[in-house]
Amino acid sequence: MRIGIYPGSFDPLTYGHLDIIKRAVKICDKLIVGVFVNSAKKELFSQEEREMILRRCCSEICPDIEIVSFHGLLIDFCKNNNISCIIRGLRAVSDFEYEITIASLNRRLAPDIETIFLMGKDENLFISSTLVKEIATYNGNISTLVHPYVVEKIHQKISIS
Ligand code: PNS
Repeated sequence: MRIGIYPGSFDPLTYGHLDIIKRAVKICDKLIVGVFVNSAKKELFSQEEREMILRRCCSEICPDIEIVSFHGLLIDFCKNNNISCIIRGLRAVSDFEYEITIASLNRRLAPDIETIFLMGKDENLFISSTLVKEIATYNGNISTLVHPYVVEKIHQKISIS
């Protein structure tokens, strides 16, 4: 059984991420979406909130997708959970340098675990969580960038902060 992981920060989950998740479920027997917990990074949503948002939105794609949080090295999490492939989305060329770096280092650490890059739809190629947060902060329309549930959660978050 091929178990794949789609790791990320998902702060917040965007239509770009959901696009990749939809494609990844088709190529893995089991897909885990891994929320990376980075205590050094200031996040808009807590780990629990990011997991909850993912659970809600991913259940519309496939009920079998597993949502888990992890900390430490991704490769260690993969080894401990029998995960044989890492899925990453590639957007513009600007992603490539960063992605090839982590994919190469992950391969150095664990040669048997493959990284597979998937490309989303054209309309999702320029969506980034950072810019979604910025647009929302200045009251811009994010409804074409994130799921309606995420719009609601971001608006709640911004109104109380
Ligand atoms: O959504 P992001 O922030 O681009 O995701 C980056 C992520 C979480 C996939 C990457 O930072 C990662 O794998 N972090 C886990 C720690 C780790 O394994 N670091 C070494 C990479 S060579």
